[in-house]
Amino acid sequence: MKLILGIESSCDETGIALYHSECGLLAHALHSQVAMHNEYGGVVPELASRDHIRHVLPLIRAAVQEAGCRLQDVDAIAYTKGPGLSGALLVGASVACSLAYALAIPTIGIHHMEGHLLSPLLSDPAPQFPFVALLVSGGHTQLMRVDGVGQYTLLGETVDDAAGEAFDKSAKLLGLDYPGGVFLSKLAQHGQAGRFKLPRPMLHSGDLDFSFSGLKTAVLTLTRQHTPDEQKTLDEQTRADIAHATQEAIVGVLVSKSLAALKQTGLNQLVVAGGVGANQQLRAQLNQAADKYGFHVFYPDLEFCTDNGAMIAFAGALRLQQQEGKFDYRFNVKPRWDLQEINAAT
Ligand code: KG4
Ligand code: ZN
Repeated sequence: MKLILGIESSCDETGIALYHSECGLLAHALHSQVAMHNEYGGVVPELASRDHIRHVLPLIRAAVQEAGCRLQDVDAIAYTKGPGLSGALLVGASVACSLAYALAIPTIGIHHMEGHLLSPLLSDPAPQFPFVALLVSGGHTQLMRVDGVGQYTLLGETVDDAAGEAFDKSAKLLGLDYPGGVFLSKLAQHGQAGRFKLPRPMLHSGDLDFSFSGLKTAVLTLTRQHTPDEQKTLDEQTRADIAHATQEAIVGVLVSKSLAALKQTGLNQLVVAGGVGANQQLRAQLNQAADKYGFHVFYPDLEFCTDNGAMIAFAGALRLQQQEGKFDYRFNVKPRWDLQEINAAT
């Protein structure tokens, strides 16, 4: 029986959670910096680090209180070691290691994408290993074969922009707030299907790789074509129609490549994780395909699609079953880190 404190601080969300190996998730707390970064149209790394510093300890106190336990009851501390913004990661890592030192308990450095990848296992029903995972976040778009905790094989990935980045950059061109994915998908609901058709690069490439960087150029071209000189903004319907076409193009490619990955591996479970996994159109189309082709698709609860502490505490609990945590409190972070590097151990 283990109680794990999880700390996520890789980007613009401070996430804290307490996960108990037998009782499950006891508490989680989140502070999002979205409103602060929105002013600048994207994440400002230095502001992100400072904000993590302000919120990490109050959130830990809140989570401990919500769980009805004491800090002394915690058996290990899991923190996001990478990938992400180095300053932001260092806040979580330094708090985790100093707290663990004070409590004389081990730490576990977690790969952020492993946290996302395992997060659907927190839901009921949960997928069983092996499965195919579609990882779609602001920085990553990957298809993985997952045979167990720490057994990840890359099947395909984006050669340029991530799906979340494509949503965000297109949203920015349409004058939407940051991060744009969720706003673009809301706007797309009012869009007319079929008015515009945007490119779906690499759809027929024969492999499981993606490319999304051309999409923003196509969106830029469309917005320019439909912005009359004298009147500097797009009309509302055209904006919604472009949003619709953008979402359709991104979702279309993600669904098609996920189906190809299931076919190639012969597996019949698909797990979708990462922020873009919150997209309702993606979920609807994958559910439809699952009914049609007879596979099962699993998502994390909506609140655990985007960055959160629960996935880090949970991944820490699973990792602890396999390996000892570290009592060495020197810490480093890995702003760039390939998920397959952790196959043996973190
Ligand atoms: O996993 P995540 O919270 O952070 C990273 O690890 O990057 O993913 C954030 C990404 C952003 O690009 C955001 O626009 C996108 O997920 N996102 C969405 C939706 N909700 C979040 N994209 C499309 N539709 C959504 N509903
Ligand atoms: Zn993430």
